[in-house]
Amino acid sequence: MSRPIDVDAIRAEFPILSRQVNGKPLVYLDNAASAQKPNAVIDAMSDQSRTAYANVHRGIHTLANETTEAYEGAREKIRAFINAGSVNEVIFTKGGTEAINLVANGIAGEIQPGDEIVLSIMEHHSNIVPWHFLRERHGAVLKWVDVDEIGALDMAGLEAALSEKTRMVAVTHMSNVLGTVTDAAEITRMAHAVGAEVLLDGCQAGVHLDVDVQALDCDYYALTGHKIYGPSGIGALYGKASALAGLRPFQGGGEMIEIVERERVTYNEAPHKFEAGTPPILQAIGFGAAIDWISQFDKSAVRAHEDKIYQRAYEGVRGINGLRVHGVAEGKGAVLSFSLDGVHPHDLAQILDRYGVAVRAGHHCAQPLMDHLGVSATARASFAVYNSEADVDAFIEALHKARGMLI
Ligand SMILES: Cc1ncc(COP(=O)(O)O)c(C=O)c1O
Repeated sequence: MSRPIDVDAIRAEFPILSRQVNGKPLVYLDNAASAQKPNAVIDAMSDQSRTAYANVHRGIHTLANETTEAYEGAREKIRAFINAGSVNEVIFTKGGTEAINLVANGIAGEIQPGDEIVLSIMEHHSNIVPWHFLRERHGAVLKWVDVDEIGALDMAGLEAALSEKTRMVAVTHMSNVLGTVTDAAEITRMAHAVGAEVLLDGCQAGVHLDVDVQALDCDYYALTGHKIYGPSGIGALYGKASALAGLRPFQGGGEMIEIVERERVTYNEAPHKFEAGTPPILQAIGFGAAIDWISQFDKSAVRAHEDKIYQRAYEGVRGINGLRVHGVAEGKGAVLSFSLDGVHPHDLAQILDRYGVAVRAGHHCAQPLMDHLGVSATARASFAVYNSEADVDAFIEALHKARGMLI
């Protein structure tokens, strides 16, 4: 049976949440940038360091075997979490950014001038710049799909952007600014109909949605550990076995090879082919512990809690004069981006910090979206399973005070 969402009990497992900031209890609402870590994750990494640490895959000795078991065990946890068909389809990376770069780099050799990459306007720079490399270096053409006034992806625009020239459709599963959840299965179906591959950026969706890569039928799915209560420095790329078979390795080095001679090299099988060098061992184990931790809860119960918290925040801000919320698409995730007339988001975030409230201010690594919205930056409060109604109330109260000071 799943563990119920008891916010007080959950919060007690995150040591950082009991600290004070500027003399006030911490209200941490910067979860879309990075989430805090429960004891289970902190302990998994330190216990491993204390009791069974060595390099993975290479050793014959006991510690090497135990560490390899824990590292490969984490891979299996991630496989199960996203329902991949095989652990060989799960590649550890240092984050979501590296996962996407791995794919863009891996297909670069096949790109002909004029080949098209289709992106949405709400992508994070991690899912833009690697494709710009293909534009700059290989003559690929980037085609952009807009979002409408509520922040939903323009599916007719996507249809129009697709053609037999489309090589890749690289789209977020959930926007880190608007909170928009895309119809990833339908996007994949449309892309496959023109023979294109699909990469879904799941760095946000992995935390908030129930992800099933087989049901989505995507070719690639990028995840990151630090937003899902795991450590930084670790992420994962899911690649369909058939897609990975044709993908060139991104980095060369130890463990990714089969034979190395003076004039010849052959490669190991996936996933090892894509994991050159000593991987982030402890981080992978911490990522596995984070997956275990969040998997105690029913995903729909987590989602319902986050939606309730988001809704309370949305109701709290929407009456404020001159405040505009960016992204109100149906079914959106718990991310509240907003602008306040006459106030720079940085100033706002700085004053909120005085009240212990941590929100993000800036372009959120989404400059094309900022341009589309006609702003240079927004403020963003983003919510996690440990956020309480009291957090929201403290945020709204601090927001009113900040507004009073700034306007
Ligand atoms: C939607 C999205 N994609 C990609 C990334 C990049 O992930 P990472 O920083 O783990 O490489 C982020 C992080 O903010 C994100 O929100």
